[in-house]
Amino acid sequence: MSLNKTIKGLKTSFSKELSKSKTSQELENFRIKYLGRNGKLASLFEEFNKLPANEKPRFGKELNILKNQLTNLYQDALGNNNENSSSNDTDFSLPGYSLPNGSIHPLEQITSEIKSIFQSIGFSVAYGPEIDDDYHNFEALNVPKHHPARDMQDTFFVNPNAVLRTHTSNVQIHLMENQDPPLRHICCGRVFRNEAVSYKSFCLFNQVEGLVVNETSSFAEMKGTLEYFVREMFGKDTKMRFRPSYFPFTEPSAEVDIWNSKLDQWMEILGCGMVNPNVLSNVGYDNKKYQGFAFGMGIERIAMIKYGIKDIRLFYQNDKRFLEQF
Ligand code: DAH
Repeated sequence: MSLNKTIKGLKTSFSKELSKSKTSQELENFRIKYLGRNGKLASLFEEFNKLPANEKPRFGKELNILKNQLTNLYQDALGNNNENSSSNDTDFSLPGYSLPNGSIHPLEQITSEIKSIFQSIGFSVAYGPEIDDDYHNFEALNVPKHHPARDMQDTFFVNPNAVLRTHTSNVQIHLMENQDPPLRHICCGRVFRNEAVSYKSFCLFNQVEGLVVNETSSFAEMKGTLEYFVREMFGKDTKMRFRPSYFPFTEPSAEVDIWNSKLDQWMEILGCGMVNPNVLSNVGYDNKKYQGFAFGMGIERIAMIKYGIKDIRLFYQNDKRFLEQF
């Protein structure tokens, strides 16, 4: 009987081909070819339908046995394949996926650079509170209530006596209250001002404060210190100038500009001066015996000049496209 032969032939080619099908894709192709709706087994059933009625019972039985056998063989092969799928389908020589690396925020990079420059000339790093009382943020720094200098810094009040510090100069007072001279510290941290937000000012920014108090410090030493800082930070040939200025907590006071050759203009980077004798006496120091100098600068401003960043808000938006560049 030709159907009989076909069944045998199908069995043989089924087993042969199944043993060659290894990957899930190969097995799926195999399934479609033999067991699919238009596959070889299905066409056998079509032939069976054409048989004369008297032959149907015998072949019907055989075909059903065949169908079960083939399906079981296929299921077995599939099961084995699933068990070993990782060893069959995985190419261990492929390079792994690389996880995206984070990077250090540009402000943090600049801050640690500033710290290490000052540490290299004997400054220690100090910390102070971000929420402080009016006394430490203003009064002790020779900025009494109703002093016009308070308008220089729009203040966020937490309550009538507590403010978000408007500058890191408050740390000067804490340092001097807690220890006797000599003092040689810097302090880095966040400060807050209630200013209209724009490309050049933000309600929050970072400052570095410096304070030296001893019996011998001088304006000349301050100039030398800040010149050293500018050269280390911006390069040996950076042009800088000291301009007379006013701060209630220093006398005399100055501001430092550096020449920005890209923009062809002077840019202010810090304020400084000899610590006002009133400030020294406010913390109980003998202002006949001790003198000092102080300085304060905005870290964002330093970073903006150094990296050519035009908008201060970029530091606070956490946009990966910006951060990835550092
Ligand atoms: N506190 C000042 C400000 O935020 C900056 C400053 C100027 C700090 C002169 C100082 C200084 O220590 O001596 O604008």
